Amino acid sequence: MEPERPVHKKRIAVLASGRGSNFQAVVDAIAAGEIPAICVGLITDNPRAYAIQRAEDAGIPAVVVDYARFPSKAAYEEALLVAMRSCRADLFVLAGYMRILGAGIVHEFSGRMMNIHPALLPAFTGLHAQRQAVECGVKVSGCTVHLVDEGMDTGPIVVQRCVPVLPDDDESALADRILVEEHKALPLAVKLFCEERLEVDGRRVWVR
Ligand code: GRF
Repeated sequence: MEPERPVHKKRIAVLASGRGSNFQAVVDAIAAGEIPAICVGLITDNPRAYAIQRAEDAGIPAVVVDYARFPSKAAYEEALLVAMRSCRADLFVLAGYMRILGAGIVHEFSGRMMNIHPALLPAFTGLHAQRQAVECGVKVSGCTVHLVDEGMDTGPIVVQRCVPVLPDDDESALADRILVEEHKALPLAVKLFCEERLEVDGRRVWVR
């Protein structure tokens, strides 16, 4: 029998812009002992994000870097970078973070930033992915957790889960069905990272 690997808890921080249900799914999985991690912070660009309330309820420090208060994207990202560095996180999880990160941030945290996207990438990148899927007439869609690179929703794929697209689906019905899978896919991807089981080989990510 293989000796058990010692588990050192990783420090993770989450970036979210709104409702925060994916953030909650990760927090719950940590609390349930499924992920060897501590969530050291929530960072949001939106002072009205419900994710802030969720952080408070879970006793996780929340930092607001209010996009609207900065004169430029560069100034905003400078402040965001300060907030991110101060987390001293091993992994940053983009869970409904609705902005594209600049190259400086992407490079600094390369290989340790993950994003969840509500489509089976590489299809339907960007906004309204569920609407794009319905309008395109695909029969299957789903969600993707990927590492973040400089592109929009283009980084190496870690986990995908799929759902059927039903004949009567509108954007909202499909989004609800995909969200259920997001709440499984994101904690799984975070868990694999925290257990050091991901091996990145170019665009391909192997699970050891
Ligand atoms: C999710 O569908 C996520 O994939 C997308 O934005 C939504 C965020 O939902 N990027 P929540 O804030 O996690 O509830």
